[in-house]
Amino acid sequence: MRKFLAFPKEFVWGCASSAYQVEGAWNEDSKGPSIWDTFVHAPGHVVNGETGDVALDHYHRYKEDVALMKELGMDAYRFSVAWTRVLPAGTGTINQAGLDFYDRLVDELLKHKIEPYLCLFHWDLPQALQDKGGWPNRDTAYAFAEYARVVTERLSDRVKVWMTHNEPWVAAMAGYFGGEHAPGIKDVSAGIKALHHLLLSHGLAAEAIRASAIQPVKVGITLNLNPVHAASQSKKDRDAASRMDTILNRTTLDPLLKGTSPIQQFAIGKLLSRSLIKPGDLEKIRTLDLLGVNYYARAVVKHDPKFPVVAASQIHPEGNEYSGMWEIYPEGIYELLTRIWKDYQPNCDIMITENGVPVPDGLDFDGRVRDERRIRYLRNHIAQVHRAMDEGVPVKGYFHWSLMDNFEWALGYGQRFGLVYVDFKTQKRTVKDSGIWFANVIKENGFTSNGK
Ligand code: FCB
Repeated sequence: MRKFLAFPKEFVWGCASSAYQVEGAWNEDSKGPSIWDTFVHAPGHVVNGETGDVALDHYHRYKEDVALMKELGMDAYRFSVAWTRVLPAGTGTINQAGLDFYDRLVDELLKHKIEPYLCLFHWDLPQALQDKGGWPNRDTAYAFAEYARVVTERLSDRVKVWMTHNEPWVAAMAGYFGGEHAPGIKDVSAGIKALHHLLLSHGLAAEAIRASAIQPVKVGITLNLNPVHAASQSKKDRDAASRMDTILNRTTLDPLLKGTSPIQQFAIGKLLSRSLIKPGDLEKIRTLDLLGVNYYARAVVKHDPKFPVVAASQIHPEGNEYSGMWEIYPEGIYELLTRIWKDYQPNCDIMITENGVPVPDGLDFDGRVRDERRIRYLRNHIAQVHRAMDEGVPVKGYFHWSLMDNFEWALGYGQRFGLVYVDFKTQKRTVKDSGIWFANVIKENGFTSNGK
């Protein structure tokens, strides 16, 4: 049955982005190099050798981009600060010109009544800190807290919501274990160490932000989470699914929401954890006013001894649509939200901080972008958020990934996630049909479901 899905009056509708994926101006105004600058400039890391050197040129076009957000009626904008604009060498000398940019951006947002959700780290670690070992080095966590303090001192008179990290799991595992992201290291123990220090840095930064904020603020984190399904009902596959769930979800959720770490369940985690997790670390990590959930896909897994650590690998089941990157599985967002609520009962706000789909969009003969697939995706996913809310999960907001097509990391510009189409040669922005659809959802604070 088709029906109107209404959202609470104070529900926050927004969109998300990250510094490296949109800003460009990679070496302007005394910005220091980050690990992503280094990574993209070395051959073989990104499809077609593409880089974020120019990206969407948002550094210069932020006013036009904020105007687009306003046009679509966004309540909030989640963006990240580039650490190396603020502290070019990661610690030490502050670069005022870098802070000035975020100052202007925040003012522009507030001028249009768009609430800034500021994220301190979306993967662009200063190269100078990578040269000293990067996230596997515990000192990096302390450097992060210093950086958090510097940004807080400058912007907390206007910014009320502070996210420490975006997807620390991906930063650690894709950066230091899988190696497909910067800094491109392939070492399982480096990945485990990086993850612990990223989480520790969340706790240290939360302390620094609260201590130096000019007004009461909320401190949160954004996690990538995936519901895990067993490929079959066999005991082996079910055990594999449970191990994968621990690796993908519990390694971040347990420390942040329970103050425990599940890594000792794995031989390598047990070996490392003695020297890695110092007394007091887990208490520090467990501090959250806002849990941001990023949802893109589920993982369907089978027992597979070939894979290190988890002895499990992913299969791609039949029956659903697939995008250029993942299976499309809307129920997953409902499964995640209800699971978090049931298993953890978080004593903090919960929001969807990213959700979206890559579609090979293009301009039609009349200049319109008819991205029906994204509209279907949004309708089905947001309906599942509503379903979780109906069952009592107090979700406070939904941020779409992303406002505009942008630089999709190792996949370059080929994967388009925007509500707004970008011609990367001319930098012309065109609102897609999905942007118009989403704007209407915001305006009506809900939409009519397709009955499924
Ligand atoms: C998330 C990242 C974001 C973007 C989307 C598609 O994992 O946080 O930067 O790349 O995936």
